[in-house]
Amino acid sequence: MNVDLILKNVGQLVPCTGSEKPLRGKEMSAVDLIENGAIAVADGKIVALGNSAEISAKYAAEQTVDCEGNAVVPGFVDSHTHTVFGGDRVHEFEMRISGADYMEIMAAGGGIVSTMRHTREASEDALFDSAFQRLDQMLALGTTTVEIKTGYGLNTETELKILKVIERLDKAHPCTLIPTFLGAHTLPPEYKEDPAGYVDLVVDEMIPAVAEWYTQSHFSAEGVPLFVDVFTEDHAFDVAQTERILRAGQAAGMLTTIHVDQFNAFGGTQMATELGAVSADHLDVSGPAEIAALAQSGTIAVPLPAANFNLGHDLSGYPDGRAMVDAGCALALATDLNPGSAPCYSMPLVMAISNRVMRLTPAETLVASTINSAHACGMADRVGSIEVGKAADLLILKAADWRHLSYFLGGNPVEMVIKAGSVI
Ligand code: NIG
Ligand code: FE
Repeated sequence: MNVDLILKNVGQLVPCTGSEKPLRGKEMSAVDLIENGAIAVADGKIVALGNSAEISAKYAAEQTVDCEGNAVVPGFVDSHTHTVFGGDRVHEFEMRISGADYMEIMAAGGGIVSTMRHTREASEDALFDSAFQRLDQMLALGTTTVEIKTGYGLNTETELKILKVIERLDKAHPCTLIPTFLGAHTLPPEYKEDPAGYVDLVVDEMIPAVAEWYTQSHFSAEGVPLFVDVFTEDHAFDVAQTERILRAGQAAGMLTTIHVDQFNAFGGTQMATELGAVSADHLDVSGPAEIAALAQSGTIAVPLPAANFNLGHDLSGYPDGRAMVDAGCALALATDLNPGSAPCYSMPLVMAISNRVMRLTPAETLVASTINSAHACGMADRVGSIEVGKAADLLILKAADWRHLSYFLGGNPVEMVIKAGSVI
């Protein structure tokens, strides 16, 4: 049979199967390998995988890539990013090095609100261009699917502007994108004294407008979900406000996710699991009660350790990823790319930090960055693993042993990225 592309001489082919439901607990360390493997691709999708001899006997291709014994893994899915924003916060980076605290900067009107100002001022084209370049950097490091949040508009007009930019990026950039509405990221200055009024605005005006945008968007046409997210924290939203916003999003057809337990744990995780949230993200200060709630629910736990690293947390300040997996949670990893807490493009770096600080094994971090992350984006039926029928999003590594992904630090372990069957 004729196909478009064959990858042959794959030293270790790591499929990361698990499309039905996220892998949890011990399942996350069961990584199957095909030695001396090959993959056949047609129309951007995987049509077969197996041993090199079998595949070359059955398939002939226009283009063959000889992997020369190197490993192949699925393209990474980055399930939590704030890729579209104006300006930067390099001055806050320097302030924090000199001792200022992230929450103090936020309380003093910097932080998210500083980026909000730049994002409101920026044109759609400027936001598109800067985010496009960020996606290029992520793609070069192996990320082929990216969730992107709004949350730097904090008014209806700018939140919609960000969503339009995300849609334009999805059409123009090779990466597959998933949009998330994070209108409840923090209070904009004009509502600083009226938090209830802002929650009303999110529920009564923004969510209907965003739901309307989504039905007209090509995301809806292609069956890509829309998420609603809230930052549950001091200087942001309490549990009752969060629940109201997430329920309103659900009623408008959105899937739910939450920024929770980053600095304070006041029950948001338990509420999110009861609501059936797809994921709960950050979890830095989650304790046994929160971890038990996650383990007993379908909600995926998503630590974001690049944020802890960037904020200079000591080792005890990181989420307890090890305890989460040991308790039977389904765990995913993401960069949290944003100009404040996590200026990080690299999933391999996130995996490397997770191995060393959270003591997650290479197998657990690979599953957490591929198939489980695809589940966290509601996209596990089409990306996140090397399985027949899925998008041919494949990474040829620079090493024969796939664990080199997070073993050497600071370089790029990815030799070649294939996105939907095209060599990038
Ligand atoms: O995921 N925690 C809240 N939101 C982002 C940070 C956004 C920012 O600092 O601009 C986060 O860390
Ligand atoms: Fe975030």
